[in-house]
Amino acid sequence: MNSAPRKTFKNPRAQHDFRSRTGSIVAVGSYVPARVLTNADLEKMVETSNEWIITRTGIRERHIARPDETTSDMAAEAARRAMAQARVKPEQIDLILVATVTPDMLFPSTACLVQEKIGARRAAAFDIEAACSGFIYGLEVGQQFIMSQSCDTVLVIGAEKLSSIVDWTDRNTCVLFGDGAGAAILQNRPGSHGLLTVHLGADGSKGSVLCVPSGGSRNPASAKTVAAREHFIRMDGKETFRNAVQAMHAAAIEVLRRCELDISQIQCVIPHQANRRIIDAVGERLGVRPDQLFVNLDRIGNTSAASVAIALDEAVAQGRIRQGDLVLLTVFGGGFTWGAAVIEW
Ligand code: UT7
Repeated sequence: MNSAPRKTFKNPRAQHDFRSRTGSIVAVGSYVPARVLTNADLEKMVETSNEWIITRTGIRERHIARPDETTSDMAAEAARRAMAQARVKPEQIDLILVATVTPDMLFPSTACLVQEKIGARRAAAFDIEAACSGFIYGLEVGQQFIMSQSCDTVLVIGAEKLSSIVDWTDRNTCVLFGDGAGAAILQNRPGSHGLLTVHLGADGSKGSVLCVPSGGSRNPASAKTVAAREHFIRMDGKETFRNAVQAMHAAAIEVLRRCELDISQIQCVIPHQANRRIIDAVGERLGVRPDQLFVNLDRIGNTSAASVAIALDEAVAQGRIRQGDLVLLTVFGGGFTWGAAVIEW
């Protein structure tokens, strides 16, 4: 009986115990556009008031990109800032992940456009779409590439130009959102525990509660879809609110349980910045002290996938997170999607 000649081959992963590798965030960076849109500005655009917006959402102002400024422009700038912090050169980056619901175009991916803008010629690149939860989804995907030894350096970005999909005639949604980008560089850092654990979840049955109904393969753009304003964000605010509180709380409890941590041991809690009342309800249920909580919603608004990425960078820059600290992220967004992470900084 003839048998095929046995090929000899080398398994590059066999030489190392890949469980000993973990993704650590070695640097962060963020960018928000210069133009600030205040609640007073919105009072001139729709039937609303500064008082309503502050008491119902906690938002005072948000940043809005220039018409010629794209999601990939903001993502690339946040990436450059993180790379400068980490002293990482573009050629060192193995993989670029961009979490966004506002890509520059349907394809190529925003990650490919960023690759070109920052000159990361060696990097693979693709987008992640998990709405406001996208940055945590990206951190987990990036970490898996590092643990499996496929990559040594991964650039994870959350970036949004939500102003391009906001219906500026709809007071229910237009007061909530802003533009911006946040980036993190993941590497295997020996001796550090990095991303201790990440929990992700989704419930596709609630997709229509928060969505942009047209512009995809189901309802391609047409004069009819444009006239019906179907290329803008549609949201059932109350239903989203209820689910956000429940899912962000449950996800946080899950990651704390896995790490056998009590909430009091966490130095910095960064929830998705969508609504101050959601943040406070989640914080109260978890037993978070005010000094543990990081909030920039009042100045930044809801920037979806960029939200916790920008907040993380600001918290580090302000000295709210120091080396060795434990950081808890918990997020929720369209899909529905949600997630939480515990990071040892
Ligand atoms: O990032 C993804 C996750 N997104 C979220 O988590 C957002 C979740 N939802 C929310 O943050 C809140 O539901 C909103 C801030 C969107 C709305 O707050 P609410 O307390 O749920 O208000 P509501 O929708 O029950 O509206 C109360 C009233 C309504 O008037 P009537 O029907 O009671 O007469 C609205 O028409 O407030 C009115 N309203 C406004 N009034 C002034 C809604 N938007 C505005 C506005 N200015 N901008």
